[in-house]
Amino acid sequence: MTAVEQTRHLATAIPGPKSAALIERKNAAVSRGVGTTMPVYAARAAGGILEDIDGNRLIDLGSGIAVTTIGNAAPRVVEAVREQVDQFTHTCFMVTPYEGYVAVAEHLNRLTPGGGEKRSALFNTGSEAVENAVKIARSYTRKQAVVSFDHAYHGRTNLTMALTAKSMPYKHGFGPFAPEIYRAPLSYPFRDAEFGKELATDGELAAKRAISVIDKQVGADNLAAVIIEPIQGEGGFIVPAPGFLPALLAWCRENNVVFIADEVQTGFARTGAMFACEHEGIEPDLIVTAKGIADGLPLSAVTGRAEIMDAPHVSGLGGTYGGNPIACAAALATIETIESDGLVDRAGAIERLMKDRLHQMQADDDRIGDVRGRGAMIAVELVKPGSTEPDAELTKALCAAAHAKGVIVLSCGTYGNVLRFLPPLAISDELLTEALDILATALGELRT
Ligand SMILES: Cc1ncc(COP(=O)(O)O)c(C=O)c1O
Repeated sequence: MTAVEQTRHLATAIPGPKSAALIERKNAAVSRGVGTTMPVYAARAAGGILEDIDGNRLIDLGSGIAVTTIGNAAPRVVEAVREQVDQFTHTCFMVTPYEGYVAVAEHLNRLTPGGGEKRSALFNTGSEAVENAVKIARSYTRKQAVVSFDHAYHGRTNLTMALTAKSMPYKHGFGPFAPEIYRAPLSYPFRDAEFGKELATDGELAAKRAISVIDKQVGADNLAAVIIEPIQGEGGFIVPAPGFLPALLAWCRENNVVFIADEVQTGFARTGAMFACEHEGIEPDLIVTAKGIADGLPLSAVTGRAEIMDAPHVSGLGGTYGGNPIACAAALATIETIESDGLVDRAGAIERLMKDRLHQMQADDDRIGDVRGRGAMIAVELVKPGSTEPDAELTKALCAAAHAKGVIVLSCGTYGNVLRFLPPLAISDELLTEALDILATALGELRT
């Protein structure tokens, strides 16, 4: 493969003519329910650049939604996938198993927070792994209810839609949803500040509020699991106040409730630790992973304490493709890359570079209400000048301006007013700085 030149370059307007033609074909062939963020079609990608079919080279601050964390088509992954495809593409692990699956499970058991004996099970998507974590927790506790949080996102299958908080676009018109799902208030420091400084900074207090809701509306005797993203992704890159996660975990332990950390978006070096739970020093009962685990090959996992993971009966878990051998080969190469290339530290360096610049921008612009996140998972929350009122229009306009200038950015958040950055860890400082310059200029141009 020829290398993808690591410079931004606009060969045409965005979209160019070839992408425009494909947009027409897509509209005629693909369900409109499947939306797209950018109006360009991909040709190649590597490092911090995605090249489209018109020859435009865009700076990638999205990583395909936190997936190509180690860099798109990373060399070790490409090699490992080639080798595996050459041997066999599928046998079904439940029929004639293979070593790659076992090796991925061993690495997950080693890398995830928490000592003691652990087990893993592999699946295809984040949603599928979340569903399986709930199955495992119910099997272990012999209880049924599950609590998720305000602003949560856990997927688009029926059970995970029920766990997800936001209606439009994820749930609207798609009910009825799975029963026995309850919602508790999150710790959302930027917005909790409206209710007092203490709630915004004291995670234990925010946990008390959540536990009171859980106690009164569900009851520990009925509750199989609490599921939470240690840093919320789609909900707005919300980092809970320190102490929130440990207090919740402690309550779960006291009440025979399985604590499930959904690290689908935060896992695999993304946040400047191998897993985001490490920032709070917590050891969840079960950890759900996907996205960054295999550099774009579909793979997900549930990992946890052996006694919980082994609760389901033999053949109670599985699926035709779960732990596909090509995806496992990609995961092994991804893990090797993270560990040997020091990518956890790289995510920390990206955090410092981005936050320095974004805080500077915030100091001069009262439309940036909050700068937050960890590692290479950073966001700004945009508000009406000097207030906390969400500004979704500005966010949309800023995304569109960035796209037109050749920067891939995504928005998120319950109120649609969070601009999120998920650069691949293989991006250079120069490209990151250039992307931030472009965003600063675009934001300036959008001042009315
Ligand atoms: C935290 C979290 N959980 C679950 C999912 C669902 O994963 P998938 O889209 O692979 O089903 C996502 C996807 O964005 C996610 O961010």
